[in-house]
Amino acid sequence: MCGIVGYIGKRKASEVLLNGLNRMEYRGYDSAGISVIEDSKLITMKKKGKVSLLESIVDHKSLTSTIGIAHTRWATHGYPNDVNAHPHSDNSGNISIIHNGIIENYYALKIKLTEEGYTFKSETDTEVLAVFIGALYEQVNDLERAVRMALSEVSGTFGIVVLSSHEPDKLIAARRGSPLVVGIGKSEYIAASDATAIVQYTNSVVYLSDNEMAIITRDGFTTKTISNRKTIKAIQEIKFSIDQIEKSGFEHFMLKEIYEQPHTIRDSFRGRLLSEKGNVKLGGLSSVKDKLRSAGRIIITACGTSWHAALVGEYLIEQIAQVPVEVEYASEFRYRNPILNPDDVVFVISQSGETADTLAAVQEAKRKGATVLGIVNVVGSSIARETDAGIYIHAGPEIGVASTKAFTAQISVLMLIALYLGRMKNLSLADGRKIAAELNELPAKVESVLQNAEGIKSIAKEYSTAKNFLYLGRGNNFPVALEGALKLKEISYIHAEGYPAAEMKHGPIALIDENMPVVFIATKDDIYDKVISNIEEVKARKGKIIAIATEGDSRIGRIADHVIYIPDSISFLTPILASIPLQLLAYYMALELECNVDQPRNLAKSVTVE
Ligand code: M6R
Repeated sequence: MCGIVGYIGKRKASEVLLNGLNRMEYRGYDSAGISVIEDSKLITMKKKGKVSLLESIVDHKSLTSTIGIAHTRWATHGYPNDVNAHPHSDNSGNISIIHNGIIENYYALKIKLTEEGYTFKSETDTEVLAVFIGALYEQVNDLERAVRMALSEVSGTFGIVVLSSHEPDKLIAARRGSPLVVGIGKSEYIAASDATAIVQYTNSVVYLSDNEMAIITRDGFTTKTISNRKTIKAIQEIKFSIDQIEKSGFEHFMLKEIYEQPHTIRDSFRGRLLSEKGNVKLGGLSSVKDKLRSAGRIIITACGTSWHAALVGEYLIEQIAQVPVEVEYASEFRYRNPILNPDDVVFVISQSGETADTLAAVQEAKRKGATVLGIVNVVGSSIARETDAGIYIHAGPEIGVASTKAFTAQISVLMLIALYLGRMKNLSLADGRKIAAELNELPAKVESVLQNAEGIKSIAKEYSTAKNFLYLGRGNNFPVALEGALKLKEISYIHAEGYPAAEMKHGPIALIDENMPVVFIATKDDIYDKVISNIEEVKARKGKIIAIATEGDSRIGRIADHVIYIPDSISFLTPILASIPLQLLAYYMALELECNVDQPRNLAKSVTVE
């Protein structure tokens, strides 16, 4: 949700900055812009639309600057257009800023500044901050001080980088609630929203904390709090490589990430699964082992796809470990004054580790004294750092806006947690070993599901003109139905609803006619016969049936219009196996409809505003 990048060093800043924007474009693609200092003057270029459009107006040959800032926008305040694009400048035109977040008191500040004679060109909250910093600079003649004074008066969230021709060899970066990483190279520094913009130049980074700023010059950088207390930062290492953030021959990141799943699932188990002991070693949770053992209830909170993984987790933990679980939308959790008991444990799930609603839920749960544990992908992210302990899912960078490999890795880790808790409680060695053996076989089974891609592609061709879809599943396949519907909506813009299959007759059945494709997750489990009855009910009303079924199930082939088979497995693992054909179905539908798969309209990868 907005990508920001600032550079100071020896290279041509415009090239490093545009490269950074391209790497972070998944964070927003409504507009893009850049400011550099040429001949002691600030030069700003910005354009509505994708980074490629900005690239078409930036003439690298004519630019020599080795310092600058750049931004790719996901619009909050003001339409996506050239004027609202970042960077924004103060009234003197000597200070330029890029911002990710929302300045909540911008309106009051704007009125005050307008009364003082300052003017505004855009509808954005960010321009108000730029003008405010400029107004304070007029009083104090010191950029760092002006930024600090402004930031102590604004409310809301920000990751910002400030550039000024008044002090042309300095960048000031600061954050509250929005991520900011500073990359440390050889006589060069890059401040960015995430490490993907940095990894090409250096692996050494520091993660700024909330209410912290970095003052970066050509000779080094210092960090301090916004209230001006020096801070000491540990230098950390970026754990992924540049090829992990490239398409590597795939047409889209989403397809690459779908195909990575056999590896990412294996990586999420690596070093954790103790097959012989029918158990799991989770180093990240060892400090809270006793707390987990005595947990009376587990609450899992998350948003979007991660929330769907949480619903699968509820099923797994309750079935395997017999601990009661509640799942909450993180966006609701904070505002409903949740009741937390002293023996409750709260898990939060987030791919990015930066989702504002989820981060707010972490803070609320901590404020109420709960033990809060993270299940996060992005190493060093805010949620990973703010939780008491946690587990990384090790899915590697996920660039496609529609989450795929993170979802299956989240479920894999939830499965490990269920087994870990189960073995602490009453799960027998034999049952633990059986589950561990199935987990070991899972990557190969995922591999075989991916071999059905051609069949799924032809189903997508046949149904790409459909206006609506229903996705139905029961038990732990219900969250899979929700996730399948979300994937279709997100990238193909076809309306889709996920429902528990048996709920269909309580309302959605009214929608069914010969034009309604219904995707059933109908794997062989305890409620298979019930799902078959639901399929018959749709068939009786001439609905078109696409079934995800277990290999060897010949009965379903006689009822459904199309069957996509997945390997047999213990029912705990069908959510992973069944979600993969649904990812491919959404992908091929979007391709048929010529939609932008990796950057669907209105969405951004990491939602860092509430
Ligand atoms: O990074 P997070 O897992 O916290 O993100 C949560 C949701 O914003 C995310 O899953 C979103 O729903 C995706 N676009 C799903 O594909």
